[in-house]
Amino acid sequence: MSDKTLYIQHFNDEARPISYYLGKMEGYTALKKAFGMSQDDIINEVKKSNLRGRGGAGFPTGMKWGFIPKQSQKPKYLVCNADESEPGTFKDRDIMRYTPHLLIEGMVIGGFAVGAKIGYIYIRGEYTREAKLLNEAIDEAYAKGYLGKNILGSGFDFDLTVHRGAGAYICGEETGLLNSLEGKRGEPRVKPPFPAQAGAFGGPTVVNNVETLANVPFIINRGGEWFSGLGKLEKSGGTRLISISGHVKKPGVYEIGAGTMTIRQIIDMAGGVLNDRPVKAVIPGGSSAPVLTADELDVVYDIEPLMKIGTMMGSAALMVVNDEYDIVKLIFRITKFYAHESCGQCTPCREGVKWMEDVIERILHGKGREQDLALLLDIADNISGKTLCALGDAAAGPVASFVKKFKSDFEAYIRGAKHG
Ligand SMILES: Cc1cc2nc3c(=O)[nH]c(=O)nc-3n(C[C@H](O)[C@H](O)[C@H](O)COP(=O)(O)O)c2cc1C
Repeated sequence: MSDKTLYIQHFNDEARPISYYLGKMEGYTALKKAFGMSQDDIINEVKKSNLRGRGGAGFPTGMKWGFIPKQSQKPKYLVCNADESEPGTFKDRDIMRYTPHLLIEGMVIGGFAVGAKIGYIYIRGEYTREAKLLNEAIDEAYAKGYLGKNILGSGFDFDLTVHRGAGAYICGEETGLLNSLEGKRGEPRVKPPFPAQAGAFGGPTVVNNVETLANVPFIINRGGEWFSGLGKLEKSGGTRLISISGHVKKPGVYEIGAGTMTIRQIIDMAGGVLNDRPVKAVIPGGSSAPVLTADELDVVYDIEPLMKIGTMMGSAALMVVNDEYDIVKLIFRITKFYAHESCGQCTPCREGVKWMEDVIERILHGKGREQDLALLLDIADNISGKTLCALGDAAAGPVASFVKKFKSDFEAYIRGAKHG
């Protein structure tokens, strides 16, 4: 294990992510420091840190903050994306559960840096416990003067509200989220304009993931360079919280220095494969990431190395599948999820994803045809890149990768050797 691996695992109350301890020790000291800095200095420090969005796309956070126009007649907003609906992802939940003040502090600093006086935390409807905890933490922060008017005598005002979603995956997509926040249907918007120009209520808006924002206090306290150095590769700074699930002996949330471990090492860190069976497949970045085979586990777990082999790090949700599980059933379940969650605005996604679900279902039921595999690839190709948001790609990429990499598993059903 690399020396940059910051310990990590928690499945009891003793061992928790390192950020928990740091958050406890350094609570709101970064905010005090930030008020002594200029807005540009804060944004530059975040740029130097190589912090990239933890919500899935990996966009550089400092650059995103820099897009917010300084002179704007409209109010600006900072919105925290706490929708966390990508299957396999549960790291933001831990931050909200164990270190809610770290997120609040990161949001006040972010709001100060971009000139937003209003913040929202849009949290998935199912996270009732975390919504309650966040509201309690926000009340505490108001009582201590870390939120509200003239925070710590700085002259800066910042109000923060928790907004609960109603359980829709599409409301994790940032513009679907903004529509939902405004009380409209959670349908993604046409871009441009991007949220930095016209986001919540038409005002310039930054949307950032929970983990992204929770990293900000450390960057301010210890410097962008320190943070950047926690990552091994040039472009990715900091640590990554990885949600590990599926067939490992110790599933949970693990924190490692970005790019410091391979997938194989991460599986070992999580106790190894359940029942000591061989790995059949690994989904590396939440269920929307194209699948990897057992031959691809020595890839470094970071954004660029994963992109290079045709998949993605996404929300850093690593799902391990051993050889006891049926691959065709797995991709059927995943596709059924995306078909259900498609908002229906774009025809390729609305019709295509459901069509893929139907084809995989008939294969599972022994009614598949030889040409169905080519059909699945063709439908996937007609969805990818042809929709307003990335939900279409999230469904198409996995199907195409499963068909290409596990063709013989599908053929076993089609030729009648197997029945679902
Ligand atoms: C269909 C879909 C679902 C998404 N769900 C989430 C989510 O649950 N949480 C999240 O942080 N980002 C999610 N994203 C990414 C957001 O659109 C956006 O990129 C992110 O909130 C930006 O924050 P970051 O730069 O800090 O990562 C989703 C994107 C798509 C296309």
